[in-house]
Amino acid sequence: VPISNIRNFSIIAHIDHGKSTLADKLLQVTGTVQNRDMKEQFLDNMDLERERGITIKLQAARMRYVYEDTPYCLNLIDTPGHVDFSYEVSRSLAACEGALLVVDASQGVEAQTLANVYLALENNLEIIPVLNKIDLPGAEPEKVLREIEEVIGLDCSKAIFCSAKEGIGITEILDAIVQRIPAPLDTAKNPLRALIFDSYYDPYRGVIVYFRVIDGKVKKGDRIFFMASGKDYFADEVGVLSPNQIQVDELYAGEVGYIAASVRSVADARVGDTITHYSRKAESSLPGYEEATPMVFCGLFPVDADQFPDLRDALEKLQLNDAALKFEPETSSAMGFGFRCGFLGLLHMEIVQERLEREYNLNLITTAPSVVYRVNSVNGDTTLCSNPSRLPDPGQRKSVEEPYVKIELLTPKDYIGALMELAQERRGEFKEMKYIAENRASILYELPLAEMVGDFFDQLKSRTKGYASMEYSVIGYRESDLIKLDILINAEMVEPLSTIVHRDKAYSVGRALTQKLKELIPRQMFKVPIQACIGSKVIASEALSAIRKDVLAKCYGGDISRKKKLLKKQAAGKKRMKAIGRVDVPQEAFMAVLKLE
Ligand code: GTP
Repeated sequence: VPISNIRNFSIIAHIDHGKSTLADKLLQVTGTVQNRDMKEQFLDNMDLERERGITIKLQAARMRYVYEDTPYCLNLIDTPGHVDFSYEVSRSLAACEGALLVVDASQGVEAQTLANVYLALENNLEIIPVLNKIDLPGAEPEKVLREIEEVIGLDCSKAIFCSAKEGIGITEILDAIVQRIPAPLDTAKNPLRALIFDSYYDPYRGVIVYFRVIDGKVKKGDRIFFMASGKDYFADEVGVLSPNQIQVDELYAGEVGYIAASVRSVADARVGDTITHYSRKAESSLPGYEEATPMVFCGLFPVDADQFPDLRDALEKLQLNDAALKFEPETSSAMGFGFRCGFLGLLHMEIVQERLEREYNLNLITTAPSVVYRVNSVNGDTTLCSNPSRLPDPGQRKSVEEPYVKIELLTPKDYIGALMELAQERRGEFKEMKYIAENRASILYELPLAEMVGDFFDQLKSRTKGYASMEYSVIGYRESDLIKLDILINAEMVEPLSTIVHRDKAYSVGRALTQKLKELIPRQMFKVPIQACIGSKVIASEALSAIRKDVLAKCYGGDISRKKKLLKKQAAGKKRMKAIGRVDVPQEAFMAVLKLE
């Protein structure tokens, strides 16, 4: 098709508002995917994604649609639905001319919707409002429509009412894509510039790069150059996604497709990088490229020290496919050999952990996540510290800075008080509150990222019965009065339990943490003191009393099967234990600091 008949768009939606269901319907109605090969939700094809019902990795699909007897090519570029991946979202939006804004007509605008709409507006996209789930009895599309107009200032006079589930409004959406979203600019004569919006590692063909040609053209066999990574390759294969990969000879400005070029790791073909020709390079790369900066770090230690090499192999394999994952070896006297790993956020961390355990059969102890601190030392150096146990001694440091985030909370007005209390407890600084609709308020706070890592989101949901939503972005570093709190179990320092806290909270955290550890660590054959210390000063202490009886003592003379069962139960209980000196410490204890109060 000519470039005037191409439309590139993505779908912006809050989690659960129906993005995947709608995408599936669009693929079905355009005949892109036959009913019979329709797996439920074609676009999210990773198991983990399906289980969690969230979109993690993006994909793309090309559809043919005939409008007024003219064939059009519609490229849907999917976006991941989580704040950890907002950089990826911004790059997929930059690859489009328009976006469908899908809002659940029974729920209304959520914080994440807002954040993504702003990203779309920054990228000058044409936005088509779609009110989904109008089949639900509780749907109030007119009301939600006014909300969108008020909050976002978007003209909703041509909003489309739809039910992705029932297939209502789907052709209206397709027509609107053709009518309202502009065609790409025809810049095929310029030097090649293609924007990478996704890439994944294929063990047989190397990295498969998904991109949108912004300027110029690219064909099979071309020698291509990645402007950010500075590497060059030959394009072994060029093709389109329909949504399966289909080879073509050449792709022109405005088109969306993939390249296989024997790239060895996704880090060499990162999202946001610009592809150009090796021999006719573009003058400048496309704007918006950013390096991945891990925000959250944790230690990963194999329960069984023999699994250390396997853990290293698994991390290396995952990294081939995940440019944002960082790791380096870490040793601790308490934990043995492991890795300190960096992630974009908590969800990213959980995904990696889960994959290591499920796909690589590793049995791991994960230590509590920490943010990256900036330490200004007395001799004038500034260093980064992502491991609380490595915070330099007070005598060596002049000041410590920590990352701050700006958060926006959207909530029904009944829960404003509860949310403000939560933010205040977490050292939040109130910035602004405004009503975005009769019954809904937006509250802005600035608070330390460290206070958000952990159970903040869970607390937000439980204190508002699930009605509030949030969105955050990092705004920079600020100096805080921070100190290191250490934990001693049976007089032995357990480095992975060290945590960095604000001085005002040190005593209460110390007390709560020792109490929590006492609950979580099973009693041993001997008495075990648990202490919280600042430097050499003990600020809180508890003790686990000793048990004397062996579990088997209960069934002396009893039947053998019961005995086996008990042993098995004990073994299962042991699975997630790490022996610290003579004390077995369970996985939950390492996360205890996140679940105080
Ligand atoms: P993420 O992948 O997490 O971003 O979620 P999503 O926005 O893709 O939502 P998804 O399509 O998975 O839909 C969420 C839930 O809403 C599912 O249980 C769908 O069956 C349901 N749903 C989607 N569209 C409709 C609709 O039009 N009507 C009704 N009643 N339910 C819908």
